[in-house]
Amino acid sequence: MQTLQVALNERSYPIFIGENLLTQVNCFKPYLTAKQIMIVSNSTIAPLYLERVQSTLLAQSYVVETHIMPDGEQYKDIAHIEGIFTTLLEKRFNRDCALVALGGGVVGDMTGFAAACYQRGVSFLQIPTTLLAQVDSSVGGKTGVNHPLGKNMIGAFKQPVAVLVDTSVLDTLNEREYAAGLAEVIKYGLIRDVPFLAWLEENIDGLVARDKVLLAEAIARSCQNKADVVAADELEANDLRALLNLGHTFGHAIETAMGYGVWLHGEAVATGMLMAADLSWRLGYLSIADVDRVKKLLVAAKLPVIPPSTISPTTFLDLMAVDKKVLAGKLRLVLLKSLGEAFVSADFPLATLAQTLAAGTQLGQAYD
Ligand code: NAD
Ligand code: GLY
Repeated sequence: MQTLQVALNERSYPIFIGENLLTQVNCFKPYLTAKQIMIVSNSTIAPLYLERVQSTLLAQSYVVETHIMPDGEQYKDIAHIEGIFTTLLEKRFNRDCALVALGGGVVGDMTGFAAACYQRGVSFLQIPTTLLAQVDSSVGGKTGVNHPLGKNMIGAFKQPVAVLVDTSVLDTLNEREYAAGLAEVIKYGLIRDVPFLAWLEENIDGLVARDKVLLAEAIARSCQNKADVVAADELEANDLRALLNLGHTFGHAIETAMGYGVWLHGEAVATGMLMAADLSWRLGYLSIADVDRVKKLLVAAKLPVIPPSTISPTTFLDLMAVDKKVLAGKLRLVLLKSLGEAFVSADFPLATLAQTLAAGTQLGQAYD
């Protein structure tokens, strides 16, 4: 087992990475000081892994209750947060309880948000079960839900007390979800870690084949990148943490336009990252060869790189205007100065952005 640390003074916490952690008492006990524990999961993950977590906790004399949500991004909303509160209240959970999120990014974001709000804040522990959640969403304390008018628009910062990355649970994850997780892994290479980017290019086939050694290294290097960024800019007070949103403004627009759950978050981010690379090239930062490298890596990871033709540039622009990086009404995008160096910019002609939005299949074909 590897242990990384998210260094946030009194809110610091460990990220444990290893196989079969769900039954390792030492990963839970020191961090769950409450007696009442509510495990929040969904109808897909619960039949696979709930019992293991439940028995680990019951053996330590915790009072353990569960709340099982329907599975899907379309349920990541306020109504289903209320469902968590109802179970907590029905089971008479006190302020000194703790929530355990057992699931992907949807369960993790929602459980964290419920923990941030229930009785003005109770503690929570993350057990991410998708690759995406293991390398990104479970670390850093961004929690919340979608609104029909915008993705992740309602939420709170709430750090977990620990993150348990059990790599063995990825065995049951399907190919599409696995690839979606690789998008966020690739993101770290593109925004701030050139050696990792080169390593990913070299090892992408092995990662797609789920080589366990490569996978453990990719997860650890991703989590280290995320932990470093979060430690330096926990609340996205400056533009450092915003860099983690490479491709997300384009991607969130795709997710919202297509209907939540139609495009997976990681798929939308992958296409969005190529769109950001395309715009960075049009603005003179990247070379065509750089854009080609981005595209090749994403394609090798089995990710989509062409935005849906049904989203017009106007719709894209409308949806991109509902973004948390918009300040004083001005759209700000994460762009690439070079591969491995991202920056936030509001300084681009709208006409150039419109070219990227209109490029469609040319995003891919132009570089073949
Ligand atoms: P998800 O939570 O919807 O999980 C994907 C699917 O895989 C679901 O059907 C789920 O039930 C299933 N699943 C999960 N673990 C499994 C397992 N081990 N075996 C079999 N099936 C399994 O999606 P996701 O990609 O994990 O997360 C996407 C969400 O995360 C989005 O809502 C996105 O906005 C959010 N997100 C948040 C942050 C953050 O910093 N908080 C960062 C990135 C993404
Ligand atoms: N996933 C973006 C962030 O955590 O800031």
